[in-house]
Amino acid sequence: MRIIKVQNKELLAKKATELFVNVIKNNESPILGLATGSTPERMYELLIEKYKNGEICFANVLAFNLDECVGLAPNHPASYRYYMQQKLYNHVNTEKTNTFLPNGLAIDLEQECNMYEQQIKQTGNIDFLVLGIGENGHIGFNEPGTSFNSRTHIVTMTENTREVNARFFEKIDDVPTKALTMGIATIMEAKEIILLAQGERKADILHKVIHGGITEDIPASILHKHPNVTVITDIAI
Ligand code: GLP
Repeated sequence: MRIIKVQNKELLAKKATELFVNVIKNNESPILGLATGSTPERMYELLIEKYKNGEICFANVLAFNLDECVGLAPNHPASYRYYMQQKLYNHVNTEKTNTFLPNGLAIDLEQECNMYEQQIKQTGNIDFLVLGIGENGHIGFNEPGTSFNSRTHIVTMTENTREVNARFFEKIDDVPTKALTMGIATIMEAKEIILLAQGERKADILHKVIHGGITEDIPASILHKHPNVTVITDIAI
């Protein structure tokens, strides 16, 4: 696990963008794994700038998001599809048919998870996967206690996760209780992973991830077993 310590949020986004751009430039048709949340927002803005400058092209990019909330339509402002469209896809030349998120409106959610897992498998290994981290150590929506062998699955969000996500909704009751997420084993198959941890809110958990043992109680701790992980953080560790 490589750790890149930067001074602030802006430099974190710049470093993440630099690694992202390398992957896009060095692969004919890169397969990406993408995250939502506030942490990668600035990285997406910088990527849009680079696209507009002609430095990078998304025409051959395939992208799978980590997760999606259950019950939110793609045009719901708190859905992750909506986020991806607003923060990246509407501004670059990705093909709509090349960008994937689990369908949180699927009638049969189990089947949707299996299909998503199959889609990733058939496409080939994810070349570059971006992760944020939850305050409880979750990656994607894999909450503490999730098996390290998990594949794309349905999760029940913890109360803490729902509270953290409440800022996107009028009231806490509107926050979805379930989500679909790539599993931990799915995430671990990516060839390269970057984990972005920004701000004091994440300091405690990042310390545990970096200095503690590997345990299912802290999903992100599994990343120690991955051969190509870079943690980019502005937190003193
Ligand atoms: C959500 C997402 C995660 C994300 C996390 C952190 O729970 N499912 O993929 O990493 O939030 O979000 P933020 O970057 O806003 O702290």
